[in-house]
Amino acid sequence: MALNIRTLSSQIAGNTVVRQVSFALEKGKTTALIGRNGAGKTSLLRTVMGLLPVSEGEMEFQGANLNQRQAHDRPMLGIGYAPEERRLIAKFTVLDNMLVPAWACKLSQAEIGRRLALIYSLSPELEQIGSRLGGLISGGQQKMVALGRALMAGDKLILLDEPFQGLAPALAIRYAESLKALRQAQPDLSILITESNPKLLEPIADQFLTIERGSLVA
Ligand SMILES: Nc1ncnc2c1ncn2[C@@H]1O[C@H](COP(=O)(O)OP(=O)(O)OP(=O)(O)O)[C@@H](O)[C@H]1O
Ligand SMILES: [Mg+2]
Repeated sequence: MALNIRTLSSQIAGNTVVRQVSFALEKGKTTALIGRNGAGKTSLLRTVMGLLPVSEGEMEFQGANLNQRQAHDRPMLGIGYAPEERRLIAKFTVLDNMLVPAWACKLSQAEIGRRLALIYSLSPELEQIGSRLGGLISGGQQKMVALGRALMAGDKLILLDEPFQGLAPALAIRYAESLKALRQAQPDLSILITESNPKLLEPIADQFLTIERGSLVA
């Protein structure tokens, strides 16, 4: 198992938003986390990323206890994250936005080159817009940059929070094609992707989890 979550709970301002959640992500599999607005998808991802304090339970990644690790250790462990609201640095170029995790991990130039080559193979547009500012590109392009940035850190696991949300249909198809190409190019990568509509992820996901009011349901 790449990621093993056992009876995980976390809180925001004293309210429990993730309730005794247990699941495992296998190496090389894509898992869809489905839930309505406010179900707790983002909170669960933020908890796994170390951005919400754990009040109960265990998170284990490739045998190492994640509970003890800081949020900023995740990239070093090979875990990448594309948050729902993207959080690009507006004054950085597209390329520099994608390089931030590489700097944090002190990746070698050779490794950066390899990861950029993978990212550009999934989305050639990212190479073309590399010198534009993060704040001056379209929302759809920002989603692709957020995926590229997640892949710069995440060579073992990536967490994608509602990447399809708000994408025009043509862009959603392109994004899904990039994910399929990613699956081919990185057969050992584990992917956790959230969505409100399970239909969208049927062609992509190997496993489905459903969250309601912070708990996984059968
Ligand atoms: N900053 C916050 N302060 C207080 N409560 C919050 C905060 N952020 C989220 N919550 C609450 O936590 C619960 C889970 O929210 P979360 O954002 O994780 O859901 P979600 O499934 O990601 O929803 P969406 O589909 O809208 O992104 C909700 O009840 C929400 O009201
Ligand atoms: Mg959310």
